[in-house]
Amino acid sequence: MTDEVLTTELAPDERPYEETLRPRRLTEFVGQERLKTNLGVFISAARARGEALDHALFFGAPGLGKTTLAHIVATEMEAQIHFTSGPVLERAGDLAAMLTNLQAGDVLFIDEIHRLPPAVEEILYPAMEDFELDLVIGQGPAARSVRLTLPRFTLIGATTRTGLLTAPLRDRFGIVHRLEFYPADDLAVIVARSAGILDIDIVPDAAEEISRRSRGTPRISNRLLRRVRDFAHHLGSADVTLEATKWGLEQMEVDAFGLDHLDRQLLTTIIDIYDGGPVGLKALAASIGEDRGTLEDIHEPYLLQIGLLQRTPRGRAVTSRAYRHLGLTAHQTEGGLFEDREPG
Ligand SMILES: Nc1ncnc2c1ncn2[C@@H]1O[C@H](COP(=O)(O)OP(=O)(O)O)[C@@H](O)[C@H]1O
Ligand SMILES: [Mg+2]
Repeated sequence: MTDEVLTTELAPDERPYEETLRPRRLTEFVGQERLKTNLGVFISAARARGEALDHALFFGAPGLGKTTLAHIVATEMEAQIHFTSGPVLERAGDLAAMLTNLQAGDVLFIDEIHRLPPAVEEILYPAMEDFELDLVIGQGPAARSVRLTLPRFTLIGATTRTGLLTAPLRDRFGIVHRLEFYPADDLAVIVARSAGILDIDIVPDAAEEISRRSRGTPRISNRLLRRVRDFAHHLGSADVTLEATKWGLEQMEVDAFGLDHLDRQLLTTIIDIYDGGPVGLKALAASIGEDRGTLEDIHEPYLLQIGLLQRTPRGRAVTSRAYRHLGLTAHQTEGGLFEDREPG
């Protein structure tokens, strides 16, 4: 159950909620102040000049607002938005079809842009830089290449880490912004806003409790809010009280930091198998049986941020805070570890 409520991935049945809860304007987007200020400046400057916005890259962990920002940019620019994603664009022709469909000023959003096949990425370079598209028409000896001029459009790319992008692609974005995990205060504002939209009465203490346990991620806050409402109803309460919230979170095994199963497994593996670390990410991924990229993109950044994990030149190591969080003492002998663990 923990995995299900804390995953940063979006379940299909959550999609309608995600849409309803998505802020439409830049001013409704909570937190990320520097990003908002800068983006606001670039948007109004581009509008004043009557130009398309520069290509923009948003990077950060899942659920922090990258897709939302792409929508917001299109709304603020009064532009049409077209959606696609790296894995969907299998062949150069798939991207060419999208590009030739664009009108001047349109936004083309490519989610998971780091997963573009190289052949597709290559036709993106001249499209981004010179608004030109080279197409090969026909086959064999009759094949010839034609160059099309594209309307000025804005490419928005989303990815979990800029390090996943090739340098030539990264260099073609004029605007690059990193989305940070949200402090609990910002998440409390998001929870209150979402509660208003969904017509949920929640006491401020309960909203704060949810915010603290949301892994710094708005998507998780919104999900916990909806689940906690169910627990409140179950208790026969129309309002979401602090009591109902605490009970619900306990039932869903959401711990005090909002860690999910894999976060905890990562920490306990370093402790139990690697004596607290340091251990290389590759070895760690193999021990857990998890994809290295998933650990690096989704789990590690949050654990680093809240100080449970540290990066050393020789690999990853847990901190004494992690031992405390897991109810362990550092340097405890092997074997005793699991027995002595208290619920976090
Ligand atoms: N800054 C924010 N303010 C309010 N809601 C937000 C914010 N960032 C994200 N959300 C909410 O969180 C959910 C996930 O955001 P999304 O843009 O889909 O994340 P990403 O594309 O980075 O995975 C959306 O429903 C959105 O309403
Ligand atoms: Mg997204």
